[in-house]
Amino acid sequence: MNFTKNICFFLFLILLAITLQFTSQATALGDVITITKAANVTKPGCQTECGNVTIPFPFGIGPGCFLSQWFEITCNASSNPPRPQIGRLEVLEFTDYTFRVRNKVASQCYDQLGNITEENPVSTNVGLTTPFSFSQKNHFTLIGCDDFALFLSRFQVNFTGGCTALCLKPEEVVNGSCSGVGCCQTSIPKALKYYSTSVGSMVNNHIKVWSFDPCTYAFLGEQERFTFNGVSDFMDPNFRNRTMASVPLLVDWVVGNLSCSEARSAGVLACQANSECVESDTGVPGYRCICNNGYHGQPYLEPGCQG
Ligand SMILES: *[C@@H]1O[C@H](CO)[C@@H](O)[C@H](O)[C@H]1NC(C)=O
Ligand SMILES: *[C@@H]1O[C@H](CO)[C@@H](O)[C@H](O)[C@H]1NC(C)=O
Ligand SMILES: *[C@@H]1O[C@H](CO)[C@@H](O)[C@H](O)[C@H]1NC(C)=O
Ligand SMILES: *[C@@H]1O[C@H](CO)[C@@H](O)[C@H](O)[C@H]1NC(C)=O
Ligand SMILES: *[C@@H]1O[C@H](CO)[C@@H](O)[C@H](O)[C@H]1NC(C)=O
Ligand SMILES: *[C@@H]1O[C@H](CO)[C@@H](O)[C@H](O)[C@H]1NC(C)=O
Ligand SMILES: *[C@@H]1O[C@H](CO)[C@@H](O)[C@H](O)[C@H]1NC(C)=O
Ligand SMILES: *[C@@H]1O[C@H](CO)[C@@H](O)[C@H](O)[C@H]1NC(C)=O
Repeated sequence: MNFTKNICFFLFLILLAITLQFTSQATALGDVITITKAANVTKPGCQTECGNVTIPFPFGIGPGCFLSQWFEITCNASSNPPRPQIGRLEVLEFTDYTFRVRNKVASQCYDQLGNITEENPVSTNVGLTTPFSFSQKNHFTLIGCDDFALFLSRFQVNFTGGCTALCLKPEEVVNGSCSGVGCCQTSIPKALKYYSTSVGSMVNNHIKVWSFDPCTYAFLGEQERFTFNGVSDFMDPNFRNRTMASVPLLVDWVVGNLSCSEARSAGVLACQANSECVESDTGVPGYRCICNNGYHGQPYLEPGCQG
Protein backbone atom coordinates (compact mmCIF):
# COMPACT_ATOMS: atom_id res chain seq x y z
CA MET A 1 0.00 0.00 0.00
CA ASN A 2 2.68 2.41 1.11
CA PHE A 3 4.77 1.36 -1.86
CA THR A 4 1.99 2.25 -4.35
CA LYS A 5 1.50 5.54 -2.56
CA ASN A 6 5.17 6.35 -2.88
CA ILE A 7 5.18 5.42 -6.56
CA CYS A 8 2.18 7.69 -7.10
CA PHE A 9 3.88 10.51 -5.28
CA PHE A 10 7.04 9.92 -7.31
CA LEU A 11 5.09 10.02 -10.58
CA PHE A 12 3.34 13.14 -9.39
CA LEU A 13 6.73 14.77 -8.79
CA ILE A 14 7.94 13.80 -12.24
CA LEU A 15 4.78 15.22 -13.81
CA LEU A 16 5.20 18.39 -11.78
CA ALA A 17 8.81 18.70 -12.88
CA ILE A 18 7.83 18.25 -16.53
CA THR A 19 5.01 20.79 -16.20
CA LEU A 20 7.31 23.29 -14.54
CA GLN A 21 9.91 22.80 -17.22
CA PHE A 22 7.38 23.45 -19.96
CA THR A 23 6.05 26.48 -18.13
CA SER A 24 9.50 27.95 -17.78
CA GLN A 25 10.27 27.20 -21.42
CA ALA A 26 7.09 28.91 -22.51
CA THR A 27 7.85 32.04 -20.52
CA ALA A 28 11.57 32.15 -21.24
CA LEU A 29 11.19 33.88 -24.58
CA GLY A 30 14.76 35.05 -24.18
CA ASP A 31 17.27 33.22 -26.23
CA VAL A 32 15.51 31.36 -29.00
CA ILE A 33 17.65 31.63 -32.14
CA THR A 34 15.92 30.01 -35.11
CA ILE A 35 15.14 33.01 -37.28
CA THR A 36 18.77 33.47 -38.36
CA LYS A 37 19.00 29.78 -39.26
CA ALA A 38 16.02 29.71 -41.62
CA ALA A 39 16.53 28.86 -45.31
CA ASN A 40 15.52 32.42 -46.24
CA VAL A 41 16.71 34.79 -43.53
CA THR A 42 16.38 38.02 -45.48
CA LYS A 43 14.18 39.17 -48.33
CA PRO A 44 15.40 37.83 -51.69
CA GLY A 45 18.33 39.85 -52.99
CA CYS A 46 19.14 41.46 -49.64
CA GLN A 47 22.45 41.37 -47.77
CA THR A 48 22.32 38.51 -45.23
CA GLU A 49 25.30 39.46 -43.10
CA CYS A 50 27.19 42.50 -41.88
CA GLY A 51 30.59 41.43 -40.63
CA ASN A 52 29.79 38.13 -38.93
CA VAL A 53 26.29 39.12 -37.77
CA THR A 54 23.29 37.61 -39.57
CA ILE A 55 20.48 40.13 -40.13
CA PRO A 56 17.02 38.49 -40.15
CA PHE A 57 13.93 40.14 -41.66
CA PRO A 58 11.99 42.25 -40.40
CA PHE A 59 15.46 43.81 -39.97
CA GLY A 60 17.36 44.51 -43.16
CA ILE A 61 20.06 46.50 -44.90
CA GLY A 62 19.12 48.76 -47.80
CA PRO A 63 15.87 49.91 -49.44
CA GLY A 64 13.12 47.29 -49.61
CA CYS A 65 14.96 44.98 -47.24
CA PHE A 66 13.35 45.92 -43.89
CA LEU A 67 9.72 45.87 -42.76
CA SER A 68 9.46 49.49 -41.64
CA GLN A 69 11.84 52.31 -40.82
CA TRP A 70 12.48 50.98 -37.28
CA PHE A 71 14.08 47.83 -38.65
CA GLU A 72 16.63 49.50 -40.90
CA ILE A 73 20.18 48.32 -40.23
CA THR A 74 23.22 50.16 -41.50
CA CYS A 75 26.39 48.21 -42.07
CA ASN A 76 29.26 50.41 -40.93
CA ALA A 77 32.26 49.49 -43.04
CA SER A 78 34.70 51.84 -41.33
CA SER A 79 35.63 49.04 -38.92
CA ASN A 80 37.01 45.62 -39.73
CA PRO A 81 34.95 43.42 -39.70
CA PRO A 82 32.07 45.81 -40.58
CA ARG A 83 29.55 46.37 -37.78
CA PRO A 84 25.76 46.43 -38.03
CA GLN A 85 24.14 49.44 -36.40
CA ILE A 86 20.57 50.27 -35.50
CA GLY A 87 20.58 54.02 -35.12
CA ARG A 88 23.85 54.58 -33.32
CA LEU A 89 23.82 51.30 -31.39
CA GLU A 90 26.10 48.49 -32.51
CA VAL A 91 24.20 45.20 -32.80
CA LEU A 92 26.11 42.06 -31.76
CA GLU A 93 23.45 39.43 -32.37
CA PHE A 94 19.78 38.97 -33.32
CA THR A 95 17.54 36.35 -31.75
CA ASP A 96 13.87 35.60 -32.41
CA TYR A 97 12.65 38.06 -29.74
CA THR A 98 15.66 40.19 -28.82
CA PHE A 99 18.84 41.73 -30.08
CA ARG A 100 22.05 42.39 -28.17
CA VAL A 101 23.91 45.67 -28.45
CA ARG A 102 27.41 46.71 -27.44
CA ASN A 103 27.22 48.08 -23.92
CA LYS A 104 28.50 51.18 -22.19
CA VAL A 105 29.76 51.36 -18.61
CA ALA A 106 29.74 54.56 -16.57
CA SER A 107 32.76 55.18 -14.36
CA GLN A 108 34.14 57.65 -11.90
CA CYS A 109 37.67 57.42 -10.46
CA TYR A 110 39.34 59.30 -7.64
CA ASP A 111 42.88 60.00 -6.47
CA GLN A 112 44.15 59.55 -2.90
CA LEU A 113 42.94 63.03 -1.97
CA GLY A 114 39.45 62.35 -3.21
CA ASN A 115 39.66 64.38 -6.36
CA ILE A 116 37.86 63.00 -9.38
CA THR A 117 40.39 61.89 -11.99
CA GLU A 118 38.13 60.20 -14.51
CA GLU A 119 34.45 60.56 -15.27
CA ASN A 120 32.43 58.70 -17.90
CA PRO A 121 28.67 59.22 -17.65
CA VAL A 122 26.42 57.02 -19.78
CA SER A 123 23.07 57.35 -21.45
CA THR A 124 21.50 54.92 -23.90
CA ASN A 125 18.40 55.27 -26.01
CA VAL A 126 16.65 52.70 -28.19
CA GLY A 127 14.32 55.38 -29.60
CA LEU A 128 11.14 56.59 -27.96
CA THR A 129 8.81 55.72 -30.85
CA THR A 130 10.42 52.39 -31.80
CA PRO A 131 8.98 48.96 -30.98
CA PHE A 132 12.12 48.25 -28.89
CA SER A 133 12.68 48.32 -25.13
CA PHE A 134 15.30 47.17 -22.64
CA SER A 135 14.72 43.55 -21.67
CA GLN A 136 14.01 42.85 -18.01
CA LYS A 137 16.84 40.33 -18.20
CA ASN A 138 19.10 43.35 -17.84
CA HIS A 139 19.88 44.48 -14.33
CA PHE A 140 21.32 47.79 -13.25
CA THR A 141 24.65 47.09 -11.51
CA LEU A 142 26.88 49.27 -9.36
CA ILE A 143 30.44 48.34 -8.31
CA GLY A 144 32.24 50.24 -5.53
CA CYS A 145 32.68 50.70 -1.79
CA ASP A 146 31.62 54.27 -1.21
CA ASP A 147 29.02 54.85 -3.86
CA PHE A 148 25.49 55.39 -4.99
CA ALA A 149 24.20 55.27 -8.52
CA LEU A 150 20.92 56.59 -9.80
CA PHE A 151 19.25 54.97 -12.76
CA LEU A 152 17.20 57.64 -14.47
CA SER A 153 14.61 57.34 -17.19
CA ARG A 154 12.79 60.54 -17.86
CA PHE A 155 10.87 60.48 -21.09
CA GLN A 156 8.31 57.75 -21.59
CA VAL A 157 8.05 56.62 -18.00
CA ASN A 158 9.34 58.76 -15.15
CA PHE A 159 11.41 56.16 -13.39
CA THR A 160 14.26 56.60 -10.97
CA GLY A 161 15.91 53.56 -9.46
CA GLY A 162 19.18 53.18 -7.73
CA CYS A 163 21.69 51.30 -5.74
CA THR A 164 24.17 51.89 -2.96
CA ALA A 165 27.33 49.88 -2.47
CA LEU A 166 29.39 50.23 0.69
CA CYS A 167 32.28 48.52 2.41
CA LEU A 168 35.24 49.41 4.60
CA LYS A 169 37.69 46.55 4.20
CA PRO A 170 38.59 44.33 1.28
CA GLU A 171 37.82 41.23 3.42
CA GLU A 172 34.14 42.21 3.56
CA VAL A 173 33.74 41.94 -0.19
CA VAL A 174 32.54 38.52 -1.33
CA ASN A 175 33.85 37.23 -4.64
CA GLY A 176 30.93 36.10 -6.81
CA SER A 177 28.19 37.73 -4.72
CA CYS A 178 26.55 40.98 -5.78
CA SER A 179 24.43 41.72 -2.73
CA GLY A 180 25.18 45.22 -1.53
CA VAL A 181 28.73 44.86 -0.23
CA GLY A 182 30.93 46.31 -2.95
CA CYS A 183 28.32 45.43 -5.58
CA CYS A 184 24.62 46.15 -5.88
CA GLN A 185 22.05 45.13 -8.47
CA THR A 186 18.46 46.17 -9.15
CA SER A 187 15.92 45.08 -11.71
CA ILE A 188 14.23 47.52 -14.08
CA PRO A 189 10.59 48.03 -15.05
CA LYS A 190 9.12 46.94 -18.38
CA ALA A 191 9.04 49.07 -21.49
CA LEU A 192 12.02 51.31 -20.74
CA LYS A 193 13.63 52.79 -23.84
CA TYR A 194 16.02 55.30 -22.35
CA TYR A 195 18.28 55.51 -19.34
CA SER A 196 21.09 57.59 -17.97
CA THR A 197 23.28 57.07 -14.93
CA SER A 198 24.39 59.42 -12.25
CA VAL A 199 27.04 58.12 -9.85
CA GLY A 200 28.49 59.72 -6.75
CA SER A 201 30.27 59.09 -3.48
CA MET A 202 28.25 58.19 -0.37
CA VAL A 203 30.86 59.11 2.26
CA ASN A 204 34.12 60.79 1.33
CA ASN A 205 35.16 60.34 -2.28
CA HIS A 206 36.79 56.93 -1.77
CA ILE A 207 39.48 58.37 0.52
CA LYS A 208 39.06 55.56 3.11
CA VAL A 209 38.83 52.77 0.54
CA TRP A 210 41.09 54.18 -2.17
CA SER A 211 43.90 51.65 -1.63
CA PHE A 212 41.71 48.79 -2.87
CA ASP A 213 38.84 50.62 -4.60
CA PRO A 214 39.74 53.77 -6.55
CA CYS A 215 36.76 53.75 -8.95
CA THR A 216 33.04 53.20 -9.15
CA TYR A 217 31.28 51.63 -12.14
CA ALA A 218 27.62 51.48 -13.12
CA PHE A 219 25.88 49.85 -16.07
CA LEU A 220 22.69 48.27 -17.33
CA GLY A 221 23.40 44.86 -18.87
CA GLU A 222 22.39 41.25 -19.22
CA GLN A 223 22.47 39.88 -15.70
CA GLU A 224 23.39 36.32 -16.67
CA ARG A 225 26.54 37.49 -18.42
CA PHE A 226 28.01 39.35 -15.46
CA THR A 227 29.92 37.83 -12.54
CA PHE A 228 31.28 40.00 -9.77
CA ASN A 229 34.89 39.04 -8.99
CA GLY A 230 35.20 41.00 -5.77
CA VAL A 231 38.26 43.11 -5.03
CA SER A 232 40.02 41.93 -8.17
CA ASP A 233 37.35 43.80 -10.17
CA PHE A 234 38.06 46.98 -8.14
CA MET A 235 41.76 46.75 -8.97
CA ASP A 236 41.38 45.80 -12.62
CA PRO A 237 42.28 48.80 -14.84
CA ASN A 238 40.57 46.96 -17.68
CA PHE A 239 37.26 46.44 -15.81
CA ARG A 240 35.35 48.96 -17.89
CA ASN A 241 36.56 47.70 -21.27
CA ARG A 242 36.21 44.06 -20.26
CA THR A 243 32.65 44.56 -19.05
CA MET A 244 31.65 46.48 -22.18
CA ALA A 245 33.03 43.61 -24.25
CA SER A 246 31.47 40.78 -22.23
CA VAL A 247 28.13 42.06 -20.87
CA PRO A 248 25.80 43.16 -23.69
CA LEU A 249 22.62 45.17 -23.33
CA LEU A 250 19.62 43.02 -24.26
CA VAL A 251 16.81 44.71 -26.21
CA ASP A 252 13.32 43.24 -26.79
CA TRP A 253 11.73 43.76 -30.19
CA VAL A 254 8.19 43.34 -31.46
CA VAL A 255 6.59 44.23 -34.76
CA GLY A 256 5.38 47.68 -33.95
CA ASN A 257 2.28 49.39 -32.83
CA LEU A 258 -0.76 47.23 -33.60
CA SER A 259 -2.22 44.25 -31.79
CA CYS A 260 -2.69 40.99 -33.70
CA SER A 261 -6.38 41.67 -34.37
CA GLU A 262 -5.77 45.30 -35.34
CA ALA A 263 -3.04 44.25 -37.78
CA ARG A 264 -5.21 41.43 -39.14
CA SER A 265 -8.18 43.69 -39.79
CA ALA A 266 -5.94 46.38 -41.30
CA GLY A 267 -4.54 43.69 -43.62
CA VAL A 268 -0.95 44.31 -42.51
CA LEU A 269 -0.30 41.26 -40.33
CA ALA A 270 3.33 40.25 -40.95
CA CYS A 271 2.91 36.59 -39.89
CA GLN A 272 3.33 34.10 -42.73
CA ALA A 273 2.21 30.48 -43.16
CA ASN A 274 2.49 28.05 -40.21
CA SER A 275 3.04 30.81 -37.71
CA GLU A 276 0.92 32.32 -35.01
CA CYS A 277 0.50 35.94 -33.95
CA VAL A 278 1.30 36.54 -30.27
CA GLU A 279 0.59 39.84 -28.52
CA SER A 280 3.58 41.80 -27.25
CA ASP A 281 4.46 41.13 -23.61
CA THR A 282 7.26 43.71 -23.49
CA GLY A 283 5.04 46.61 -22.42
CA VAL A 284 5.53 48.17 -25.86
CA PRO A 285 2.52 47.88 -28.20
CA GLY A 286 2.87 45.38 -31.03
CA TYR A 287 3.01 41.66 -31.73
CA ARG A 288 5.34 38.81 -32.62
CA CYS A 289 5.05 35.97 -35.09
CA ILE A 290 5.98 32.57 -33.68
CA CYS A 291 6.31 29.36 -35.68
CA ASN A 292 3.64 26.75 -34.86
CA ASN A 293 4.68 23.68 -32.88
CA GLY A 294 6.80 21.39 -35.02
CA TYR A 295 7.68 24.17 -37.45
CA HIS A 296 10.71 26.44 -37.52
CA GLY A 297 12.34 29.13 -39.59
CA GLN A 298 11.27 32.60 -40.70
CA PRO A 299 7.71 33.49 -39.65
CA TYR A 300 7.98 36.96 -41.21
CA LEU A 301 8.86 35.89 -44.79
CA GLU A 302 7.26 33.76 -47.48
CA PRO A 303 6.91 30.80 -47.56
CA GLY A 304 6.66 30.98 -43.75
CA CYS A 305 7.72 28.39 -41.17
CA GLN A 306 8.75 24.96 -42.42
CA GLY A 307 7.90 21.54 -40.94
C1 LIG B 1 13.40 31.56 -50.61
O1 LIG B 1 12.80 32.67 -51.27
C2 LIG B 1 12.60 32.46 -52.66
C3 LIG B 1 12.07 33.75 -53.27
O2 LIG B 1 10.97 34.23 -52.54
C4 LIG B 1 11.63 31.32 -52.85
O3 LIG B 1 11.44 31.09 -54.23
C5 LIG B 1 12.20 30.08 -52.19
O4 LIG B 1 11.25 29.05 -52.26
C6 LIG B 1 12.56 30.34 -50.74
N1 LIG B 1 13.26 29.18 -50.26
C7 LIG B 1 12.95 28.59 -49.13
C8 LIG B 1 13.71 27.37 -48.75
O5 LIG B 1 12.09 29.03 -48.38
C1 LIG C 1 31.78 37.78 -34.43
O1 LIG C 1 33.17 37.94 -34.26
C2 LIG C 1 33.57 38.29 -32.97
C3 LIG C 1 35.05 38.59 -32.95
O2 LIG C 1 35.71 37.91 -33.97
C4 LIG C 1 33.19 37.17 -32.01
O3 LIG C 1 33.53 37.51 -30.70
C5 LIG C 1 31.68 36.96 -32.08
O4 LIG C 1 31.30 35.88 -31.26
C6 LIG C 1 31.25 36.71 -33.50
N1 LIG C 1 29.79 36.71 -33.54
C7 LIG C 1 29.10 35.75 -34.15
C8 LIG C 1 27.61 35.91 -34.12
O5 LIG C 1 29.62 34.81 -34.70
C1 LIG D 1 30.99 53.89 -38.04
O1 LIG D 1 31.99 53.42 -37.18
C2 LIG D 1 32.97 54.38 -36.88
C3 LIG D 1 34.10 53.68 -36.12
O2 LIG D 1 33.61 52.77 -35.19
C4 LIG D 1 32.34 55.52 -36.10
O3 LIG D 1 33.29 56.49 -35.77
C5 LIG D 1 31.22 56.14 -36.95
O4 LIG D 1 30.53 57.12 -36.21
C6 LIG D 1 30.24 55.07 -37.40
N1 LIG D 1 29.31 55.63 -38.37
C7 LIG D 1 28.02 55.87 -38.08
C8 LIG D 1 27.20 56.38 -39.19
O5 LIG D 1 27.55 55.69 -36.97
C1 LIG E 1 42.39 68.07 -4.83
O1 LIG E 1 41.90 68.02 -3.52
C2 LIG E 1 42.52 68.93 -2.63
C3 LIG E 1 41.99 68.65 -1.24
O2 LIG E 1 40.60 68.52 -1.26
C4 LIG E 1 42.23 70.35 -3.09
O3 LIG E 1 42.90 71.25 -2.23
C5 LIG E 1 42.76 70.51 -4.49
O4 LIG E 1 42.41 71.79 -4.99
C6 LIG E 1 42.18 69.45 -5.41
N1 LIG E 1 42.80 69.54 -6.71
C7 LIG E 1 42.12 69.58 -7.84
C8 LIG E 1 42.96 69.62 -9.09
O5 LIG E 1 40.90 69.56 -7.86
C1 LIG F 1 8.66 63.34 -16.12
O1 LIG F 1 9.03 64.38 -15.20
C2 LIG F 1 9.51 65.56 -15.82
C3 LIG F 1 9.96 66.51 -14.73
O2 LIG F 1 9.05 66.56 -13.69
C4 LIG F 1 8.39 66.15 -16.69
O3 LIG F 1 8.85 67.29 -17.34
C5 LIG F 1 7.98 65.10 -17.72
O4 LIG F 1 6.90 65.57 -18.51
C6 LIG F 1 7.57 63.78 -17.07
N1 LIG F 1 7.34 62.79 -18.10
C7 LIG F 1 6.34 61.92 -18.08
C8 LIG F 1 6.24 60.97 -19.23
O5 LIG F 1 5.53 61.87 -17.18
C1 LIG G 1 36.67 34.36 -7.45
O1 LIG G 1 35.97 33.14 -7.69
C2 LIG G 1 36.26 32.57 -8.95
C3 LIG G 1 35.34 31.38 -9.17
O2 LIG G 1 35.11 30.70 -7.98
C4 LIG G 1 37.73 32.20 -9.02
O3 LIG G 1 38.03 31.65 -10.28
C5 LIG G 1 38.57 33.46 -8.80
O4 LIG G 1 39.93 33.13 -8.78
C6 LIG G 1 38.17 34.15 -7.52
N1 LIG G 1 38.86 35.44 -7.45
C7 LIG G 1 39.44 35.88 -6.35
C8 LIG G 1 40.07 37.21 -6.44
O5 LIG G 1 39.41 35.25 -5.31
C1 LIG H 1 39.88 50.66 -23.25
O1 LIG H 1 39.47 50.78 -24.61
C2 LIG H 1 39.78 52.02 -25.19
C3 LIG H 1 39.16 52.09 -26.57
O2 LIG H 1 39.39 50.91 -27.28
C4 LIG H 1 41.30 52.18 -25.22
O3 LIG H 1 41.65 53.43 -25.77
C5 LIG H 1 41.84 52.09 -23.77
O4 LIG H 1 43.25 52.14 -23.79
C6 LIG H 1 41.37 50.81 -23.12
N1 LIG H 1 41.74 50.84 -21.71
C7 LIG H 1 42.47 49.89 -21.14
C8 LIG H 1 42.77 50.06 -19.71
O5 LIG H 1 42.85 48.90 -21.76
C1 LIG I 1 3.11 54.10 -33.54
O1 LIG I 1 2.11 55.08 -33.68
C2 LIG I 1 2.51 56.36 -33.28
C3 LIG I 1 1.30 57.27 -33.37
O2 LIG I 1 0.60 57.04 -34.55
C4 LIG I 1 3.66 56.82 -34.16
O3 LIG I 1 4.10 58.08 -33.73
C5 LIG I 1 4.80 55.84 -34.02
O4 LIG I 1 5.83 56.19 -34.89
C6 LIG I 1 4.33 54.42 -34.35
N1 LIG I 1 5.40 53.50 -34.04
C7 LIG I 1 5.64 52.44 -34.78
C8 LIG I 1 6.74 51.55 -34.28
O5 LIG I 1 5.04 52.16 -35.79
